[in-house]
Amino acid sequence: MKSILITGGAGFIGSHVARLFVKKYPEYKIYNLDKLTYAGNLENISDIEDFKNYRFIKGDICDTDLLLRVFNKYKFDSIIHLAAESHVDRSITNPLDFVNTNVIGTVNLLNQFKETHKNNFDGKLFYHVSTDEVYGSLGESGFFTEETSYDPNSPYSASKASSDHFVRAYGETYGLPYIISNCSNNYGPHQFPEKLLPLFIHNIINSRPLPVYGDGTYTRDWLYVKDHACAIDILFHSNKIGHTYNIGGFNEWKNIDLVKELCAQMDIKLKKKESSSESLIEFVKDRPGHDLRYAIDASKIKKDLNWKPSVNFKKGLSLTIDWYLNNKNWLKNVTSGEYRNYYKKQYSA
Ligand code: NAD
Ligand code: TYD
Repeated sequence: MKSILITGGAGFIGSHVARLFVKKYPEYKIYNLDKLTYAGNLENISDIEDFKNYRFIKGDICDTDLLLRVFNKYKFDSIIHLAAESHVDRSITNPLDFVNTNVIGTVNLLNQFKETHKNNFDGKLFYHVSTDEVYGSLGESGFFTEETSYDPNSPYSASKASSDHFVRAYGETYGLPYIISNCSNNYGPHQFPEKLLPLFIHNIINSRPLPVYGDGTYTRDWLYVKDHACAIDILFHSNKIGHTYNIGGFNEWKNIDLVKELCAQMDIKLKKKESSSESLIEFVKDRPGHDLRYAIDASKIKKDLNWKPSVNFKKGLSLTIDWYLNNKNWLKNVTSGEYRNYYKKQYSA
């Protein structure tokens, strides 16, 4: 039985990847290692917790003793590494948390994987999940390709860029078999309400202001999270060892247009008649070092592996809003406690 370690599987994207693998591959044993930070939540994967081919391990990828113990015990054949500190605004406040988990945690995993399999890497894989933010910012035109030079601007993207370099270096130096993918902004169910879309959905539900940074002309490419999980599945099974792939939605939106589309859809779903949710929009102080535009050229994965997004954006957004409206308890649970302090610090003028 193939033994696969998924890190960060209680987070947003990791929970979708864990669910996909557990349900689709009963012949694999899936181990989900997660520290359960503020962003990790066992509710995200409660539907698979009783599956025979699934086991949850609470732990920190920075804990070398723990990694030694679990690698010795379960002899993971492959890793899909998603555990990370993932929010740019938090990286501006606490950069060291990002260095610890994203850089040192990744190197710990690489070391342990190398030590476990160094005599025979056949059939093994270290799959590293990364972001398009490592490439920095685009101007009004152009796209990130796999050949674009790294040019990170935030502590988050710098820490992810560093982790990508370490993965590649372990490939070159020790022959460790790896694949890296760099994906654009994900959206969908189970995303923590600190990122743009779930934050604004939460605020609209509660008639709170929608804090748009700067003039709102910043541009992102958006991909439905299940399409990302599907791309990871395809790449994981592709034998494209030593390759990097960009994954994107072919779906660019200026923040302000995206927020207006969100407001329009929510007005219909909430049957708002008198005033539109748009009246909640407030332009607030900009994020320092805010990248102007991200846009992915995902033609390599399309050409090599025939992957392309399957969910149309307006449909994906509608599914996402419905999920949050139908899971108000989930929202309530994750926005109690620490969240309130975070919100106050981040959004008080
Ligand atoms: P998330 O913040 O929702 O989840 C991260 C998970 O990692 C949480 O469950 C958390 O508990 C866990 N974790 C954090 N530190 C840990 C540690 N030290 N040890 C073990 N577990 C730890 O993040 P996400 O949005 O699901 O992102 C997952 C991965 O995908 C990250 O590597 C991120 O850089 C990458 N990515 C995210 C996006 C996006 O739009 N969200 C886009 C491209 C790439
Ligand atoms: P975010 O969801 O934090 O993702 P990233 O910074 O990784 O792209 O932000 C998406 C865009 O939305 C980004 O340009 C910043 C902007 N934004 C706001 O305008 N207001 C907010 O409150 C947040 C969280 C983000």
